[in-house]
Amino acid sequence: MNVSAQAKKRLLTGDRPTGPLHLGHLVGTLHNRVMMQDQHDCWLIVADLHSLTTRSRREQIGELPELVHEVVLDLLSVGIDPEKSTIYLQSGVPAVYDLAILLQMLIPVNRLSGIPTIRDMARNAGLKDDEVPLGLLGYPVLQAADILMARAEVVPVGGDNEAHVAIAVELAEHFNTLYGPVFPIPEAMVSSTPTLPGVDTVDGGSQHKMSKSAGNSIRLKDSADEVARKVRSLAGPAAGATPEDLDSSPLFAFVDAFMTDKAAASALKYDYLRGKTNADSVHQAITADLEILLRPIRERRAELMADPGRIEEIVVDGTIRAREVAYQTLNQVRDAMGLESLWSGLVAATQRRAEARKRPY
Ligand code: TRP
Repeated sequence: MNVSAQAKKRLLTGDRPTGPLHLGHLVGTLHNRVMMQDQHDCWLIVADLHSLTTRSRREQIGELPELVHEVVLDLLSVGIDPEKSTIYLQSGVPAVYDLAILLQMLIPVNRLSGIPTIRDMARNAGLKDDEVPLGLLGYPVLQAADILMARAEVVPVGGDNEAHVAIAVELAEHFNTLYGPVFPIPEAMVSSTPTLPGVDTVDGGSQHKMSKSAGNSIRLKDSADEVARKVRSLAGPAAGATPEDLDSSPLFAFVDAFMTDKAAASALKYDYLRGKTNADSVHQAITADLEILLRPIRERRAELMADPGRIEEIVVDGTIRAREVAYQTLNQVRDAMGLESLWSGLVAATQRRAEARKRPY
């Protein structure tokens, strides 16, 4: 079914450019984005300002061009189509800070400090309580500004970002009540895919979810050899394991996530429980299916890399489009709040005075 451009709902989601995307992203969100880009007016933010909330040192900012390039390369290599999706750089849309400042007036500090993800992000960044920057406390407000400035209606996120979209909803409702109906009320679409454990190439890797920062991920850019090596690091449950042990093991989480032949996957579990097969053959089965998934992604990546400047061009195009919408929204917000008439009143008075001065005596 082909939905006309006007009828398409605008969707916004995205990533902080903090490292290469991995298999957890692929199953958790990227596949979904590729699927949804036909039926939605899909916007993907590269949220570099959000990465500044915990990475604001000069050398960290110096890494951004490369990190932004990598994340966009990841998006395109999995099948995001820049003809259908607007990929944009958050810091290239300065109207979003103006909007964030105005939204900050409408939310109590306590509402933000109670959000668990703020504490989690502070802890992950090694920040003590008295070191949390105002910008990190305001993380959800900035995210709300992204969502509302884009006039997004659908916001697909992981469970960890659900609370942030709730803030965007509250802010939109509060704003509309105070100043008039400016914002569409966004709706979170929370991923239901189980989180993927990490690999044991680092100590205790699979006890945590696969994550960019933990060093326990299989990255979309990894070579076939790297993928195979990382899969081999997944330990299987010990002999005498129950079916429950098996289902909760990282090794079989990979079987469930990536073996496409579900009957073969059940047979493998059955044999494993009875000691008829070992972790080696499970590793091989996972690796074979992962290769079917990852090879086309690697090929598309190679094609894109053969066209230097293409990634940057796509980001610039998308960001220009986002800037237009952002300024339109900001103008509506300033109008609704009376800030535009405050300014234009001053300008008009100044013009009248200038005219009066020009009049002959
Ligand atoms: N907070 C998101 C993340 O973890 C990134 C993000 C920033 C975002 N602005 C957004 C997601 C707007 C959805 C909508 O990585």
